[in-house]
Amino acid sequence: MHECEVDVSQSSMHSPTFARVILFGLLSKALSANGASTNLTALVNLFIGTASGANGGSGGNAFPGAAVPHAMAKVGIDVDTSPRQAGYISDNSSITGISLMHDEGTGGNTNGGYGIFPLFPLTNCSFTSCPVGIDARKAKRTAGADAATPGYFTTTFVNGLKLEATSTRRAGLLRFTFPNPMVEMHVVVDLTHDLQRSFEGGSINLIRSRGSVALQGTFLQSYGTDNYTVFACYDFLPPTTANNQTLVAAGTFQSSPSSSTNISISPDQSSLTFPFTSSPSSVQAGVLLSFNSSTGVVLTRFGVSFISSEQACANAQEEVPDWDWDLVQSASRAKWEDVLERVSIDVEKENPTVVELLYSSLYRASLVPANLTSENPYWGSESPFYDALFCSWDTFRTVHPLLSLTSPREWAEIVNAYIDGWRNTGYIPECRANTKAGYVQGGSDGMPILGDFAVKYGARAGELGVSTDDLYQALVDTAENTPPDWYRVGRQNTAWKQFNYIPTAWVDPSGATGLPTREASRTLEYALGDFAVRQAALTLGKGAADIQLYGNRSLGFKNVWDQNVTSDGFTGFSQRRFENGTFAFSPPDACSPVDPTPHSCARGTDNNVGFYESSSWEMSFFAPHSMSTIVNLMGGASTFVSRLDHYFSKGYFQAGNEPSFAIPWAYNYVGRPDLSALRVRNVVFQNFGTGINGIPGNDDSGAMAALLTFHILGLYPVPATRQLLIGSPLVSSYTLYNNLFQTTTNITVQGFDNASLSASPPMSRLFVKSITINGEPSESLCWISFDVITGGGNIIIEVDDDPVSASQRMCGNSASALPDSLESGGFA
Ligand SMILES: *[C@@H]1O[C@H](CO)[C@@H](O)[C@H](O)[C@H]1NC(C)=O
Ligand SMILES: *[C@@H]1O[C@H](CO)[C@@H](O)[C@H](O)[C@H]1NC(C)=O
Ligand SMILES: *[C@@H]1O[C@H](CO)[C@@H](O)[C@H](O)[C@H]1NC(C)=O
Ligand SMILES: *[C@@H]1O[C@H](CO)[C@@H](O)[C@H](O)[C@H]1NC(C)=O
Ligand SMILES: *[C@@H]1O[C@H](CO)[C@@H](O)[C@H](O)[C@H]1NC(C)=O
Ligand SMILES: *[C@@H]1O[C@H](CO)[C@@H](O)[C@H](O)[C@H]1NC(C)=O
Ligand SMILES: *[C@@H]1O[C@H](CO)[C@@H](O)[C@H](O)[C@H]1NC(C)=O
Ligand SMILES: *[C@@H]1O[C@H](CO)[C@@H](O)[C@H](O)[C@H]1NC(C)=O
Ligand SMILES: *[C@@H]1O[C@H](CO)[C@@H](O)[C@H](O)[C@H]1NC(C)=O
Ligand SMILES: *[C@@H]1O[C@H](CO)[C@@H](O)[C@H](O)[C@H]1NC(C)=O
Ligand SMILES: *[C@@H]1O[C@H](CO)[C@@H](O)[C@H](O)[C@H]1NC(C)=O
Ligand SMILES: *[C@@H]1O[C@H](CO)[C@@H](O)[C@H](O)[C@H]1NC(C)=O
Repeated sequence: MHECEVDVSQSSMHSPTFARVILFGLLSKALSANGASTNLTALVNLFIGTASGANGGSGGNAFPGAAVPHAMAKVGIDVDTSPRQAGYISDNSSITGISLMHDEGTGGNTNGGYGIFPLFPLTNCSFTSCPVGIDARKAKRTAGADAATPGYFTTTFVNGLKLEATSTRRAGLLRFTFPNPMVEMHVVVDLTHDLQRSFEGGSINLIRSRGSVALQGTFLQSYGTDNYTVFACYDFLPPTTANNQTLVAAGTFQSSPSSSTNISISPDQSSLTFPFTSSPSSVQAGVLLSFNSSTGVVLTRFGVSFISSEQACANAQEEVPDWDWDLVQSASRAKWEDVLERVSIDVEKENPTVVELLYSSLYRASLVPANLTSENPYWGSESPFYDALFCSWDTFRTVHPLLSLTSPREWAEIVNAYIDGWRNTGYIPECRANTKAGYVQGGSDGMPILGDFAVKYGARAGELGVSTDDLYQALVDTAENTPPDWYRVGRQNTAWKQFNYIPTAWVDPSGATGLPTREASRTLEYALGDFAVRQAALTLGKGAADIQLYGNRSLGFKNVWDQNVTSDGFTGFSQRRFENGTFAFSPPDACSPVDPTPHSCARGTDNNVGFYESSSWEMSFFAPHSMSTIVNLMGGASTFVSRLDHYFSKGYFQAGNEPSFAIPWAYNYVGRPDLSALRVRNVVFQNFGTGINGIPGNDDSGAMAALLTFHILGLYPVPATRQLLIGSPLVSSYTLYNNLFQTTTNITVQGFDNASLSASPPMSRLFVKSITINGEPSESLCWISFDVITGGGNIIIEVDDDPVSASQRMCGNSASALPDSLESGGFA
């Protein structure tokens, strides 16, 4: 945990270490009203959250390389130090290669995920004595040389060698500019090193006449126990001879069986095969190529696939037929403009830091899940296939709800991929990572995602190609059945259905295995999962019996509420519970950022508190579908407010992890949107920024990015419902575009005050006084419906600076002014 200062400068080509220049003049094209030409990509800073997680860094683990939205190919450089979850770190460590696929923002294995088949350019060595090994070849970057815009990445080594990348969904181009075309120009194609160094076998095949290299490798997934096999294809002879790029020598290299650093290069050999080994091999192997090029430029085309190296070559041919760099880069940029334009603001008028945070966040929130459609190696299907659902526990809260606002067409594909996972494995996937099931963290959090889709787009599902019958059956099967290994998918429904909580120290007679820990937090998450089924049953007309069954089960979170526990003068906390009903006590501050004694809150059997990556202090606020129940359990509105205040002031709030996301907004549930408005500003300006430390924890496949987007827009989504909490936006106006409804909805803050944009705002206009929807007063100052926010039209949020009146306004006078809660009759 740490705090970081907000960097108020910005530039068009973002570089992590160069001083930033303010370029407002050049940004004039970015004014973004409907359809006008925009340049929002110029506002994206790809280096936010790239500081190392070591030594107190943020560990945002953001990926700053070249990628299209939801890309399979994510091309970027890899550092030789850990942690390096996304390959890249903004520091002075050495680079071992530029590789083809990466994760975005994930935690898990500190060595990272993917990073497959890196290339490395070498100069100034004679062919058979080049330092091709991963440690021998590595190089430092010139300080400040890393730069990127959406669809493009570049850096320069200290020897003057420049690297550039641009890409499509499954292919792309790499360009190496050598400092001196008269000195040797070589490129290493590395078969065996992924980021984890987990090579378990594969092959490399050079076809000299075509200048192409085909690869296959099996590696370990980064968050789970399985391996995966991936393929790539490199082409080194561009069709045009603009640079007179010719291949002058090529051959394989391989380390000796006795020493992985004793590598011999064989100029005449063109293929190598390594049989599968069940434990990773330290062999170093690949191909080395040498070029003549009149300009010193060596251009390479690549394709990736999970099917075959032939398909990888075909993907390159199909997606980059002409090797036209500018075409590929401008197509990538155009795809990003299209995504970014769905949230438009007046970029010249708004606070420049907020502008940079908004567009950088919208960018990262659309990097994953990764579109692997037509690359599913496991089952034949017409359905879309998506990877990097890493993990649904992270993304259900904000990433999917953000897609639901603006991008239902993309979201429907992703939802279809979740449903197709159930169709072929029996369960909704939870944490598919590197194409294989990863670890389950708590609940099965694809459930709130599918429930959310049902309530928001159930009526248009046919048009979006989603079968609501299958969606519902996927939910029911995941809610009812217990897989043999519920640490990889699904839930321990044996326990849940018998007790309506997850008992601690209980031996599951079904023999199903998982990690029988996190009992309290699993109870809270299973409850929300069942609420999602209830919501889908209601919307899709599945009958009263199901609505009541899952509605009742979703209140099971109350079963772990121990009214006898007191902490810091507050009474009643979620706790573990034995099968006989007796509670098992853990200190409520255990695993909080200020826990005075070490506890484990991980997945494993070392977890001795019953909560996953969170404390009882934090998780006791978790029942997003029935917050009135929590308010009552805690002793009513005023105690709830002081308990929230205490949670923040005592340091129990963990800004860098998902269980905390909704809590700054919880004051809305007791009619104190004024306190949410202040709290959200405090959270944003204390924890987020435009520097490399600008994300307070792992970005987690865009979860943090989507959270920050919602904070800026003054909205927070309630999972599997059509309600969003509404607050006080950090911009004076914005327009949302929905790509199914083709609606534009304008939100204007009347009286917006730039002085309110700080962690501890001085007396300034930030309290919501009224909300007007298309000329009519809103029934609530605390929530707004999805139908309104995506319905087209004009929403006016009037703000004032009178804290006393603000504290008395509550959510308004209407009977439905408070956000809904299931137990008090909401979500009817
Ligand atoms: C976008 O803006 C940047 C500078 O901010 C400029 O270099 C670039 O040419 C612009 N691109 C387009 C397509 O207008
Ligand atoms: C690299 O960066 C670290 C941390 O910023 C610093 O301590 C070290 O001196 C730097 N090393 C070099 C060679 O610049
Ligand atoms: C090439 O290597 C020689 C000897 O190691 C060194 O003196 C020279 O600076 C190098 N040139 C380049 C371009 O790296
Ligand atoms: C992963 O390893 C197992 C052996 O443990 C092997 O049977 C399997 O084929 C491998 N999977 C892939 C996708 O290579
Ligand atoms: C490569 O270029 C050098 C001069 O720069 C020339 O001597 C050599 O013949 C060329 N090799 C090939 C294979 O074209
Ligand atoms: C390196 O490997 C080669 C081939 O396996 C072997 O002949 C040579 O002795 C090894 N050299 C060293 C220094 O180990
Ligand atoms: C490429 O080579 C041809 C003939 O070999 C020559 O005429 C042409 O100028 C060269 N092109 C460049 C860009 O150097
Ligand atoms: C995913 O890939 C498929 C196949 O190319 C394509 O039809 C679809 O538009 C892609 N979707 C996204 C969101 O990129
Ligand atoms: C629980 O079930 C009863 C019927 O047994 C029903 O009346 C009630 O509405 C259900 N509660 C919820 C929250 O669904
Ligand atoms: C709370 O404590 C009282 C007194 O020790 C005890 O009688 C009661 O059973 C406890 N309640 C629960 C729910 O554990
Ligand atoms: C319930 O079970 C726990 C764990 O076995 C035990 O410590 C406790 O005394 C039991 N409570 C009752 C009331 O039997
Ligand atoms: C939203 O605002 C834009 C720009 O001011 C305007 O062009 C558009 O007509 C407005 N949309 C609606 C639905 O009023």
